[in-house]
Amino acid sequence: MPDSLTIKDNRTGQTYELPMLYGTYPHYGAAIPAAELRRIRASDDDFGLMSYDPAFMNTASCKSAITHIDGDRGILRYRGYTIEELAEKSGFLEVAYLLLHGELPTPAQLQEWQHQITHHTMIHEATKKFMDGFHHNAHPMGILVSTVAALSTFYPESRHITDAEVRWKQIHRLIAKVPTIAAFAYRHSIGMPYAYPDNDLSYTGNFLNMLFKMTELKHKPDPVLERALDVLFILHADHEQNCSANAMRSVGSSHADPYVCVAAATAALWGPLHGGANEQVLRMLWEIRSKDRVPEYIQRVKAGEFRLMGFGHRVYKNYDPRAKILKEMATQVLHVTGKSPVLDLAMELERIALEDEYFVSRRLYPNVDFYSGIIYQAMGFPVDMFPVLFAIPRTAGWLAQWQEMLEDEDQRIARPRQVYTGADERRYVAIEKRK
Ligand code: CMC
Repeated sequence: MPDSLTIKDNRTGQTYELPMLYGTYPHYGAAIPAAELRRIRASDDDFGLMSYDPAFMNTASCKSAITHIDGDRGILRYRGYTIEELAEKSGFLEVAYLLLHGELPTPAQLQEWQHQITHHTMIHEATKKFMDGFHHNAHPMGILVSTVAALSTFYPESRHITDAEVRWKQIHRLIAKVPTIAAFAYRHSIGMPYAYPDNDLSYTGNFLNMLFKMTELKHKPDPVLERALDVLFILHADHEQNCSANAMRSVGSSHADPYVCVAAATAALWGPLHGGANEQVLRMLWEIRSKDRVPEYIQRVKAGEFRLMGFGHRVYKNYDPRAKILKEMATQVLHVTGKSPVLDLAMELERIALEDEYFVSRRLYPNVDFYSGIIYQAMGFPVDMFPVLFAIPRTAGWLAQWQEMLEDEDQRIARPRQVYTGADERRYVAIEKRK
């Protein structure tokens, strides 16, 4: 099979041969280097052809070896390992290592990795002071975005982004400190004193400790909930070139330090079309209230009044594999925490939507956010913490994307082109002469 594309420019009658670029296998898709299109010109002073692709509907912004999604078949893999196998057999910190290093760790490597992360969980005492300044009902995502950005001022060496050793240090710090900031944001919102990290506990066990510790000397997280949160973190750890990963790479491409890059990615995640959807799913279920009101709600979605939150995906045109795992997990968690009326409602909503021509023809299926919120709520989290629970594990994915971008010789500062549609050159008119 010849690996090129022949294009004929009908304006000039000239043909061009463009090279093709393949991923791991041809069936993973091929691409043409868009810069090659510039050779196609209608005249000598023509700028050259560009491709027009708002929202990156069909543009590869990078080569990546981290995560693979096959949206038609509902497949998600990190570094070649299926999400189902990782969710069943692995732990979050092991998965974070895999994403960042490219290989599963040996026992010694995992131990060292856990040690590095565990010993960076504390945050500077001054951080607490400005967290205290937030209004009591400040959204924890707002606190997280601002505080992670502020970490940059504590670690000025983090600007040396070309030094691999410096980069790894910030990676350890970020993966370790984001849960501490997230937990402090939660405690601040409910007026509770901050609970310090307990380094004897696992990553998720310690997070639960910082959230829920009361007066007991040592907090003992429920092992079922601890494991459930670990699996949730695995499922959310990376998702290739989505809106927030793109923000991470885009801001990182200007060589900004990793703290402000993660803050930018967290801000991108917050939107209701991205990681903020999990919060909106619960609000939607509360609004629907009962199963008999589902058909009316679906009608309103179809009439274009609003979207069914937790449904649809740019890449998945099949059931999101993460949603499948979460649907099962919801039942297990609710076994420990007690029944949730919203789970029954969500299942009814899913059943009706999946039989409806509107959703079937558009290939809209539940995504990761559809069931995650139900589990978070059952575990005792308030809804505005849901996107924060997404941001914690995704920090590992963002950092893997950032490292890969910095080491990729093809990458430069991100700078899209535009198709200019404004006025042609015209003369300035003095204000008194304007009508
Ligand atoms: N409810 C109703 N209609 C929908 C929905 C939805 N949730 N999602 C897409 N559609 C319709 C949309 O109106 C359009 O219909 P038409 O062709 O008649 O105009 C068609 O499906 C294609 O939609 P689109 O907006 O072109 O698709 P997109 O790829 O730009 O958007 C999406 C993807 C995830 C933003 C969108 O499906 C959506 O808004 N979903 C609800 C929010 C949500 O659950 N987001 C979480 C995504 S998964 C977690 C993450 O990665 O952040």
